[in-house]
Amino acid sequence: MSDENARVPDPAALTAFDNAIRDDHMIGQWSFEPLLEAAVGGPTPKGDAHVWPWSTARARLAEASKTLGPAGVGRCNLTFLNPGIQQGPPGSTHTLAAGVQMMRANEVCWSHRHTMSALRFVIEGNPEAHTVVDGEPLAMDTFDLLITPRFSWHDHHNPTGQEIVWLDVLDLGLTLSLNQAFYEPFGEASQPRRPSAADGQGLRARALRPAWEHPRRGRLPIRYAWSEVLDILAAYGDTPGDPYDGLALRYANPIDGGPTLATMDCWLQQLQPGFQGLRHRRTSSSVGFVVSGRGEIEVGDRTLAVGPGDTFAVPNYAWHRMANTGDEPLRLFTVHDIPAITAFGLLYEEPVATVGAHYSPAVPGIPHQPTTRTDAMLEPEERR
Ligand SMILES: [Fe+2]
Repeated sequence: MSDENARVPDPAALTAFDNAIRDDHMIGQWSFEPLLEAAVGGPTPKGDAHVWPWSTARARLAEASKTLGPAGVGRCNLTFLNPGIQQGPPGSTHTLAAGVQMMRANEVCWSHRHTMSALRFVIEGNPEAHTVVDGEPLAMDTFDLLITPRFSWHDHHNPTGQEIVWLDVLDLGLTLSLNQAFYEPFGEASQPRRPSAADGQGLRARALRPAWEHPRRGRLPIRYAWSEVLDILAAYGDTPGDPYDGLALRYANPIDGGPTLATMDCWLQQLQPGFQGLRHRRTSSSVGFVVSGRGEIEVGDRTLAVGPGDTFAVPNYAWHRMANTGDEPLRLFTVHDIPAITAFGLLYEEPVATVGAHYSPAVPGIPHQPTTRTDAMLEPEERR
C-alpha cells in the first residue's frame, strides 16, 4: 500500500464535504460504514418478543365494540403493536400485523379489497357466519382458517345472534415498507356472489378438477376447515415432527402445494407434552396463536408463558425455542413471512435449515440398492 492510500482523510475537510453534498442530496459511501459494521453477523432482530394475552385482547375488543356503538360497523378491530418497533409501519413484527376483530350479531362488514394479503383464524365462530371472498362464501366455524389473498374482494356476514371473533393477520409492514398499498371500497355492503358452487375456486381446489380448464394457482379464496385439520392431526398421531418446530404442518396451496399466501405461510404446530424444542433462529419473523394447551416461548433471554387464546410475536433472526409445559398437546397456529423472505433469496436458518429440509419417510424393510435403473425410476428425493 502506498503512503497516499494509508493516509487518513482530514476529518474537518470530510465533515465540511459531507455538509456540502447534503445540499445536493448525496451521501458518501463512508457514511454507511456504521450501518455495514452493525450488519456483520446478520440483522439485529426487529422488535421484541411479546405476548398479547387473550383475557386483555377479548376484554378490549368488547370495550371497543361498546365505544364504537352501532355506527362502527366493520371497524371493531384491534391491531397488536410490537412494543419494540417505534418507527416504520405499525405491526406485531416488522412485516406482519396480527390483531383481533369482532363482528357483532347481524352485522355485515362492508366489502373492500387491498393489496395487503390477509387471513382470518376464527376464534369464536359459527358455521352460519361467513366471509365472501371474490364471490365465494366461506363459513367461519371455530378455528377455521380463511384466506383473502392480495386484492381479493371481501365482506363478512354474521346472520347469527352471537359475536364472531377472529385473529386477523396481514402482511402490512411488508406491503407498506415496499410502498405497494392499494385500497378500494366496493361501494356497497356486499359484493355479488357466484351463481353456484359449480363456478367456484373452492370446488376446483378439491381432488377432482375440470379437465377442460387451466387451473388457477394463486389468489385462491380458500377455507381450511378445522374439522379437516383435526382429521389430519389424528392421522399423524403422536408423530413428534421436527426437533425445532414439532409437528409443524403447513396450510398448503391446494393446487400447487406452495405457501398459504404469496407472502405468508400458515402452520398448525402440535407439540407433545414434554416437548422441549431446540433453539434456533431464521431470518423470517412470525406471529403465533395458542389454540389449546400451555407452553413457553423462549426468545433471546426472555421466557414467555402462553396459554389458550394468547397471541405472540417472534422477531426475525431472534434465537428462540418452544416447550410444552402442560399435560395435553400444545397446538399453535403460526404465521410466517417465509414466502416473502424466500422470494428475495434471503431465508437463512441457524444452526441448520429445517423448512423443507427433510425427506418423507421411506417404507421400512424395502431395501434400496442404488443402480442406474432404480434411480431412473425413482423421484429425486427417493434416491438415497
Ligand atoms: Fe380487509
